[in-house]
Amino acid sequence: MKTWLRDLPKVELHLHIEGSLEPELMFSLAARNGVSLPYATVDEVREAYDFSDLQSFLDLYYQGMRVLCTEQDFYDLAMAYLEQAHAEGVVHVELSFDPQAHLNRGVELAVPFEGLNRARRQAEREWGMTSALIMSFLRDRDAAEAMAVLEKAAPYYETIDAVGLDSAEVGNPPTKFSAVFERAKALGIPRVAHAGEEGPAAYIREALDELDVCRIDHGVACLQDAALVERLRQMQMPLTVCPLSNVRLKVVAEMTDHPLPQMLEQGLKVTLNSDDPAYFGGGVLENYLACAQAFAWDRETFKQLAGNAIDVAFMPDARRAALL
Ligand code: ADE
Ligand code: ZN
Repeated sequence: MKTWLRDLPKVELHLHIEGSLEPELMFSLAARNGVSLPYATVDEVREAYDFSDLQSFLDLYYQGMRVLCTEQDFYDLAMAYLEQAHAEGVVHVELSFDPQAHLNRGVELAVPFEGLNRARRQAEREWGMTSALIMSFLRDRDAAEAMAVLEKAAPYYETIDAVGLDSAEVGNPPTKFSAVFERAKALGIPRVAHAGEEGPAAYIREALDELDVCRIDHGVACLQDAALVERLRQMQMPLTVCPLSNVRLKVVAEMTDHPLPQMLEQGLKVTLNSDDPAYFGGGVLENYLACAQAFAWDRETFKQLAGNAIDVAFMPDARRAALL
């Protein structure tokens, strides 16, 4: 099954590129940029990755990304991930990034855009691997700041496939960003949002009703609300589920408790993704393998899951047709 899953053409829809920063690269970029880290060794970094919830992870995630300073840093970060994903049989990746987390420490918007886009072009040239770019807003900062970033990103709209919403969920409901997402819609930019990761099912409803999203990132909390499940099923609203992330952030106690089997049984449009692979135990293939072990799914189920991601990816129809 392992070889078969590796060779299955897979699409990754939910990846925070800053969350792909492996400790080895963190150290080498820290040295290159003269940034000090609160760790002495790579092993110490990995030992620190013992999270109690989303916030305890976010604290280390924002700390780690301080080593990303130049366009070359973002290029190196993305290239390392895309190369690893390619080796795992991933044929298309949708990279999210958090511009505010960089702007707020003096790294201009052009830096991540230029570095990430250069890596994306190279991956396509070298391996025929396609990608999309999702510019995410930090929901634990104010909406005016997100709006300013959206306006500032005008020179890059051509390279943005969607805007997203991430960071600390509870207490930061989707409605806080209604005006920002309305503006993105007016600009013709598709919208996705994290909802129902740690937050309640009501946030998933809000993301649909107030932000007019075409995908929900995570969405596992939908099972708390039978009417919402029915709505998501009827719409075939894509849910970008990240099982290893949910275990590591204690959304579920262990893989065998994960609600993925119920979500599939309910006819939901589920996909499997890695979220922050350097922090949560691996990329897309590791997430597929963890599901194979926990749920003993057959090949048809994995083909369905991989096919769901191809169906809803931001890619030209000709590319989609070639993959299906
Ligand atoms: N940013 C990076 N990873 C995240 C996650 N799992 N949830 C919310 N925001 C994030
Ligand atoms: Zn995420």
